[in-house]
Order: sequence, then structure tokens, then C-alpha cells
Amino acid sequence: MVALGSSVFLLVRGVLYRHRRTAQPHTLVVCQRQNHGNGWFTLTLQRPGPLRMLPLPRFEGGQSVALSLPGSHLRRHYSLARWSKRPFQYEVSIKPEPQGKLSQLLAAQALQGTRLQVSRPSGQFTLRTDSPTRRQVLIAGGIGITPLLAMLDQWSRQRHRPDQELHLYWQSRHPGDWIYHDVLNAYATTMESVRVRLLASRAEDGKATRISVSLLQAQLGSLDDTQFLMCAGSQMLDNLSEGLLNAGVPASHIHFERFTSGAVPSDTGNWTLQIEGRTVPFAGHAHVLSALEDAQVPLAADCRTGTCGQCCVRVISGQTRSLLESEFKVSAGHCLACCTVPLSDLQLGRPGHSTS
Ligand code: FES
Repeated sequence: MVALGSSVFLLVRGVLYRHRRTAQPHTLVVCQRQNHGNGWFTLTLQRPGPLRMLPLPRFEGGQSVALSLPGSHLRRHYSLARWSKRPFQYEVSIKPEPQGKLSQLLAAQALQGTRLQVSRPSGQFTLRTDSPTRRQVLIAGGIGITPLLAMLDQWSRQRHRPDQELHLYWQSRHPGDWIYHDVLNAYATTMESVRVRLLASRAEDGKATRISVSLLQAQLGSLDDTQFLMCAGSQMLDNLSEGLLNAGVPASHIHFERFTSGAVPSDTGNWTLQIEGRTVPFAGHAHVLSALEDAQVPLAADCRTGTCGQCCVRVISGQTRSLLESEFKVSAGHCLACCTVPLSDLQLGRPGHSTS
């Protein structure tokens, strides 16, 4: 009996050790799917079969996993929406985008019982757990609530000084988008140090409100001694970041993650991309990366929002336009394929030297 017990222990420890060491994606199964009235859906993922008793890799609130369907080359990062110190399940909430190939595929195919390839959690956009500042202000736009909810989960389980507070603002278009309304309400009513404010920019009762720096100042007073963590679309992030800087908030107190790679111009044109002996049509794509992916040109891409730098390519000839001020800084003569559109035919190559 003792020998059997120790064998099982060694087996479990071996499996855990292997999972910790490998960067290979896990195969997880959709154990629950919830469809929301606004078209968004929530997937709960766990290991298949008896392996579900084993914990999944831990993560920091705010981190994400890359999901893909078996046999598909499409792979996208989605933030983990609920945090637990020892997770046995992951939760992601997805808004299917009209142009989002994987989000559309997941909407159609990720049903209960579907197996998905899931990477280890990663990402630098995390709660400032060791921050001495008095306040953390989390600002979400739409589906950008997911990493911030995980941060709130994590924050609620930590010790804080009596004067420390967490404020969460969630702006969506319609009240029907507040899919985590009940969870947030529970936090706000049970934790004195947590304040939650929900805003709808297109409310039908005439009470539409939008997040702005002046609204923050009116409700919070001075913005000193405050860390801001924001996840939203590019326009909202750019407006808020600029406003906070103008209000005197130091750049080191402003942290953000985009879930889009910038406003896509309505007409990106028809061009030809040449890369490593291949000729690829660019025909009104959202960015260079999507044209390369359509042509199945292998190019690493992780964040797709100008943060990780993996999609950096060398621009040998031609004109490009960047869709945003990226976090990752490329060296001269390079661009990030995920947030660049061509302004002419392009000749591209693998990156030379790039800096971050
Ligand atoms: S995929 Fe990360 S910067 Fe382009």
C-alpha cells in the first residue's frame, strides 16, 4: 500500500514537473460554455479526463494564454478572466470580432467537450502587487474587463495597508455587455476597499457616460499616489493615456494593454509583399501580418498589439504606415507586421538587429 502510494505520488510529481518544464501547449477541454445575450461567450477550460485533478500552471492576474483549435494555424492570446492561487480551470471570455478569424471559429466550434491547445500563461500586464501607492485604478473598455477582473480577484486575496484602495471602471457600449456585473457587485458590496463603477456609452435611458480624465478627477480628487492599469481599444487608451500625462500622472504609473492593434484604415489598398522569395497579395487586409498569415508565410506573432516584438520584419524597400505607437521599439528599417499597413509594394525580410 505504501509502495503504491509513493508510486502514485512520483507519477503525479513527474507529470507536474514535465508540465512546468515544457513550453508546449496543453490540451485542455471546454468543460463549460456560457453564451451571453450580447454575442460574447465564456469558456471554462480544464485538463481532460482524470488529469483535471491536476492543477494548471499558475499565473498573475492580467496574464493571458494563446488558444488554438487542433489542426489550425490560427493562434490568439486571450486574457484569463478569473484568478485563483492554485487554478484547476481557466476562464476566458471572448467577443467574436467580424474580422477575427479565430474568435469566429471559436464561437462556432468551441462547444462543451471541444479540445483546445492552450499555451502557458504569459504577459507583463499584471497587478502591481508590490506597489507602495495608495490606489490602483483599473479601467476596462468592453471585453477588456477580463484581465482586470483577474487582477481584482488577486488583489482581493492579498493583504493591504488600511489606506489602500482599488477602483475599477468598466465602460461598455450597452448595459448588456456587463457580463460580470454580479461578480463585481459582490466585490463592491463585501469589500470596503473596492469601488466599482460601470459606465455605458450608449445607454438607452439617456444616462450615457464615458470615462475621461475629468470624470476620474471629479470622483477621485487628486490623481497622485495612484497606479493606472487599463485594457481597452486603441482609441480609448490613447485618449486616456494622453489625458493622464497632461494631468501630471507620471508615465511610470500608467500601464496598459491593447486588445486591438489600432484603428484599421477603411481602405488599406492592394499591394504586393515580397518575402523570402514569395510574393504575397495584400488586398485590403487589416495589417501586414494578416496578409502573411493568409498566405501561410510562417511568422511568429504573440500579442498582435505591438507589445512582444515577435512579428518584427525588415523593410528592404517600400513605404509603410504604423497604426499605433507600439510599446516594442523596432530599430531603423524594421516594422511590426501586426500593426503596420503598406503604402506601396513592399520587399520584406527577416529582422536584422532590433531593440526593445
Ligand atoms: S505580434 Fe507582438 S508585436 Fe506583433
